Amino acid sequence: MTSTYAVLSEGLEKRFGAVHALRGLDLAVATGTVCGILGPNGAGKTTAVRLLTTLLRPDAGSARIAGHDLVREAAAVRRRIGVTGQYASVDGDLTGRENLRLFARLHRVRGPAERTSELLDRFGLAGAADRPASTYSGGMRRRLDLAASLIRRPEVLFLDEPTTGLDPASRNLIWAAVRDLTAHGTTVLLTTQYLEEADQLADGIALVDQGRVAHTGSPAQLKSLIGTQVEVVVANADVLAEAAAVLDRLTGAQPSFDHERNAVGAVSRDSTLTLPRLVRELDAAGVPLLDASLRPPTLDDVFLRLTDDHKERAA
Ligand SMILES: Nc1ncnc2c1ncn2[C@@H]1O[C@H](COP(=O)(O)OP(=O)(O)O)[C@@H](O)[C@H]1O
Ligand SMILES: [Mg+2]
Repeated sequence: MTSTYAVLSEGLEKRFGAVHALRGLDLAVATGTVCGILGPNGAGKTTAVRLLTTLLRPDAGSARIAGHDLVREAAAVRRRIGVTGQYASVDGDLTGRENLRLFARLHRVRGPAERTSELLDRFGLAGAADRPASTYSGGMRRRLDLAASLIRRPEVLFLDEPTTGLDPASRNLIWAAVRDLTAHGTTVLLTTQYLEEADQLADGIALVDQGRVAHTGSPAQLKSLIGTQVEVVVANADVLAEAAAVLDRLTGAQPSFDHERNAVGAVSRDSTLTLPRLVRELDAAGVPLLDASLRPPTLDDVFLRLTDDHKERAA
């Protein structure tokens, strides 16, 4: 069945004794998109994945996954999802091929041998397919784990920090696999501590802080909340005020001065401002320039700003 949202949760809560790991998690992941759950260590990411994949029962709240109620229709949910993460399902005594065959049989996949070979190829494991998985590197095990979760072609795939600690080559294979899956209509919910990963893969980002979604938006939307850092260094102190006037006009923001460096900066909300235009305008105003820079915000800036704001509001 198709529904607009592959994952829709409302007010999910989970306590572990005194620890309130999730304090009302609201998520809406449109079918066929990649949602990045971005948050620091301890934010509640793994708990969220374990709840949404029926590995843990929520204390409160509700969710629908691929159109089925998480608690009342847990078996139907399980049939439609794949999960991989910090609870490795790979058996080290078996070879890579044997591991995948086992999953294929368990889930009664048609053409298990072909499906297994196809996945081994896709994840760069064909050469090591007949070696025990215990001899695999961390990156290879992670790829095998992901391959296992794809045996059944899940509608919704949950990846808990899929690339944490991986070498760039393994990371790129996993990123390519995620892109390929979404190109074929799979919905992916992945958690990450890496801003770059969310930026690369996610259509939508939910910033999770202290068990709650602190902010949501596309990577571009989250970045536009912060603005572009503009800085100009002038040749002598006499023209600093003129440079500031130009910045004020272009950015609509209050400039700030660094008199020691003869520099003036501002944060522009106007994402159409370009370096050539900035330089042209300063030149036209007769400002002799030493340096000028535009730095678009990174998701790191967004993360620090928004989680700070969140703490201030909560305080
Ligand atoms: N089984 C558990 N027992 C007790 N505390 C837990 C358990 N699982 C998670 N927690 C606590 O819940 C909070 C959220 O953890 P987790 O979901 O693992 O965060 P993340 O994956 O974002 O690092 C943390 O404070 C963690 O210590
Ligand atoms: Mg975790």
